[in-house]
Amino acid sequence: MFKYTKSTLQLTRTVQRSALKMAQSRVLQCRMYASSNKEAPKKQRRSLVPLAILGIAALGLTYYNMGHVSKPPRASVDPVSRPKKDIESKEQPLFKDNEISVIYVLGGPGAGKGTQSAKLVKEYGFVHLSAGDLLRAEQNDASSKYGELIANYIKEGRIVPQEITVALLRKAIVNNYNQGKTKFLVDGFPRKMDQALAFENQIAHGKFVLFFQCPEDVMLHRLLERGKTSGRSDDNMETIRKRFHVFEETSMPVVDYFEKQGKVLKVSCDHPVDVVFGQVVAQLKKEGITD
Ligand code: C5P
Ligand code: MG
Repeated sequence: MFKYTKSTLQLTRTVQRSALKMAQSRVLQCRMYASSNKEAPKKQRRSLVPLAILGIAALGLTYYNMGHVSKPPRASVDPVSRPKKDIESKEQPLFKDNEISVIYVLGGPGAGKGTQSAKLVKEYGFVHLSAGDLLRAEQNDASSKYGELIANYIKEGRIVPQEITVALLRKAIVNNYNQGKTKFLVDGFPRKMDQALAFENQIAHGKFVLFFQCPEDVMLHRLLERGKTSGRSDDNMETIRKRFHVFEETSMPVVDYFEKQGKVLKVSCDHPVDVVFGQVVAQLKKEGITD
């Protein structure tokens, strides 16, 4: 489709300026004839024709330009340095829908979100951002003032205050975007409605939710197996039970919220890794996300 370019804008301005100049000189001449009570000669009246043509051309071009809004250029400024007002106004997220693609990866603890995301990274070049991994990295960062708070929430299987998680994701997305990356799998997020709304209002709109459905006993078995070597403070029976509860009570409403928008792609994950991945790829292909 034809784009509204700099040159059409310049052409419009030139035509508008010429029409204006000509109109001004004709008005002056008319005034002169009016003040001398003489009728304008035929030649003078005929010279109004080009003025009329220019006027119509200027109007036509202006109307055309109004209907052909240009696609904005990719942000040349660092999105981090956008004015604070922009970020907090909640009118516009930091990234427009055509600048980045975000797919949320949801499912109960142990559903295989991380495993499947890693495969998508390898095959399709997504950037994988796990909210849990980002929180654990922040927790282990000695210079972070949130380390202890995050550790307590994770140990209890509770959802960390959204401001912290959203800020970590924002930083990671901006860093990757500045390196030319635009396709993101945001894994284990949003786990609570406030996280969903904050992210959608402030950062970007998620295109889809890849939702891994898994029976609880399968997830429990996987987590207990993982707990033997993971060293995670929450891969133990007591915390796992709490995480299951939080998932049902707090995270499922997020899945329902996106389901109402027709954005949930369901995958049944009680199968071998490659079989699940086959379903994942089929779902994404159906939506035209992978080739
Ligand atoms: O996704 P993962 O199982 O790694 O998450 C571990 C813990 O990190 C969660 O149980 C929760 O305490 C915290 N978390 C969170 N918000 C998220 C993701 C993880 O509070 N969106
Ligand atoms: Mg994970």
